[in-house]
Amino acid sequence: MYLGVDYYPEQTDRALWNEDVRLMKELGVNVIRMAEFAWTMMEPADGEFDFSFWDEVVETFGEHFDIVLGTPTATPPAWLIEKCPEILPVTKDGVRISFGARRHYTVNSPIYREYCERITRKMAERYGRHPRVIGWQTDNEYGHEQSDRSYGDVDQVAFQAWLKERYETLDALNAAWGTVFWSHTYTAWTQIPVPRTVFQEHNPSLLVDFDRFCSDAYRSFNKLQVDTLRPLIHEDAFITHNLVYSDMAINQQQMAQDLDYVSFDNYPVWGGLPEPNRFEKTAHDHDLCRSSKQGKGFWVMEQLSGAQGWSRIGYLPRPGHIRLWTHQAVARGAEAIVYFRFRAADFGTEEFCHGIIDHDGKPKRKFEEVKHVMSELHAHGDMINAATYKSDVAVYFDQENLWAWTHQPHSDAFNFKQEFVRFYGAAVRQGVNTDIVFPGDALDSYKLVIVPLYFLGNDVFDETLIDYIENGGNVIFTYRTGVKDPINRCHNLTLPGKFAEYAGIEIDEYESLQTVQSNEVRLGDQVSEANIWCDLITPKGAEVLATYGQAFYKGTAAITRHTYKGDVTYIGSSVDDAMLDTVYHEALTRAGIDANRLPDDVEKVDRHGDGQLIRFYMNHSTEVTSSVELDGTWQTLDGETMTGTLELEPLAVFLLKQEVGA
Ligand code: GAL
Repeated sequence: MYLGVDYYPEQTDRALWNEDVRLMKELGVNVIRMAEFAWTMMEPADGEFDFSFWDEVVETFGEHFDIVLGTPTATPPAWLIEKCPEILPVTKDGVRISFGARRHYTVNSPIYREYCERITRKMAERYGRHPRVIGWQTDNEYGHEQSDRSYGDVDQVAFQAWLKERYETLDALNAAWGTVFWSHTYTAWTQIPVPRTVFQEHNPSLLVDFDRFCSDAYRSFNKLQVDTLRPLIHEDAFITHNLVYSDMAINQQQMAQDLDYVSFDNYPVWGGLPEPNRFEKTAHDHDLCRSSKQGKGFWVMEQLSGAQGWSRIGYLPRPGHIRLWTHQAVARGAEAIVYFRFRAADFGTEEFCHGIIDHDGKPKRKFEEVKHVMSELHAHGDMINAATYKSDVAVYFDQENLWAWTHQPHSDAFNFKQEFVRFYGAAVRQGVNTDIVFPGDALDSYKLVIVPLYFLGNDVFDETLIDYIENGGNVIFTYRTGVKDPINRCHNLTLPGKFAEYAGIEIDEYESLQTVQSNEVRLGDQVSEANIWCDLITPKGAEVLATYGQAFYKGTAAITRHTYKGDVTYIGSSVDDAMLDTVYHEALTRAGIDANRLPDDVEKVDRHGDGQLIRFYMNHSTEVTSSVELDGTWQTLDGETMTGTLELEPLAVFLLKQEVGA
């Protein structure tokens, strides 16, 4: 298994390199990722290439480790910006982003693309056949730090060209967007704006098309680098990109199709956050990586190993966190873990992005923890990687739906990612493996498909889903299902639109709740606050599971289940986690899935190996010890036999195996 560190020789005193090699070897490192911001160290002036520094780096470190090289295009040099300032991106308010940090470019700049192609080609010509250079990372975290959109003139021209290709005629575009509204009818392509600041809000169809355009632009920018690298690197070398699932404009599942591996930068806590994200969020991020490449393993290209932050320094990961987050990633399909960063920098914006070793260079607690987890994974990682991750449960995600919601969140209490992770996490808490499915993915192997917040329709997914339901599939829908067509317009069907018949319901009215408002949902003896949204459901064949407790719609159905062929459950409001647990437990059990609500903060993941089941139990709580009952006899990977109650201390990780059928 590949285990490594992110290393910045250009930020490290040359006199420390040998010591760093020694320490890395002691850790168990076998791969290092480098160079992703080092453009000026290769091209100090326009067209003047000098690889002497990197030649020495590749020779020195390549003697001991395999290497992943990053193309340095996230940091266009000062000489380039001075020469071609039009490369800089522009904000919604028309402000040109300045040189001085990173990611200061628009992918729509043809000039920038030329410079990127050239530096990528030069690097690949130099190191593409080097035996120790096993892989390439394009750029760094596309779209991060809100760099995912640019609203400049060059972007506008590119957007207009993209629209022309999509709609062919202005009549078609005007009809699709409904531009008659507020006299927006366009009579020339050049009139169409990018969505810069306006008094109120732009046309929702324009907004989602702009997102699609930005995403396609990033994809083709990435593809340019992939296509430049491919013929120049050796056959077995891979090309990846380190994605971050936090920003808006990139459909990362589509981009993944152009890469050999998906990589992910795993920061469960960053900067000013007082505590780590809930573990279900990180579980979801890993599932997204694995699922976006059809189940293929992925790389964690940056695994947080110390407190992070720029001007504000974040949460100090507790002893055990590095190990826990590493195993969580491996459990969910990470085939390689690279820790960010080997050593803290003494200068620059990221002086306080701590790593395995701090400024004093002494190997201490974090070093020992990484060393320990690397030794565990050197012993067992390949066996885990070879074991299949299987799931009976799929959760539908479509980036375009996220965009549509982000433009029209309905309520100030709504945040798509948070709410999506709540509907996701409820399955994770039942101790079942989870996959993510995208438009076009097959559903027939799943016993239950969860379709959260399905607001913006997708024709391909609709067809697959209806087929699945018609064949007896079980589905959970949530509020705002079937509201929009793919152009991001409303339709004239009674909600939930195409799915009304299958859900056995009609939604006659609805109410959006702002943060200061709430209602109540009653399910048997259980009472939950109802937030964000209330669908007022009229059953048309469905059974009522829960009703509202307040307002004029007290007693109206809030959660229903219809037995079409399988079960179609509809959750009409944002109910609390405890109520989701009840509804999910029943839906999973009725679908024939072995579901058990795990103790709070405990995660369980199964992998199926050759004749054996491998099970991970992980306790994400930093304070509470929990326990689970083991079914049957298990062995730790070191051969110790375990039965009965398994005590999980704070941040504990257990890897167990059982012969299949035992
Ligand atoms: C990542 C980024 C790294 C570094 C790190 C700091 O998002 O890829 O280059 O900035 O954050 O924590």
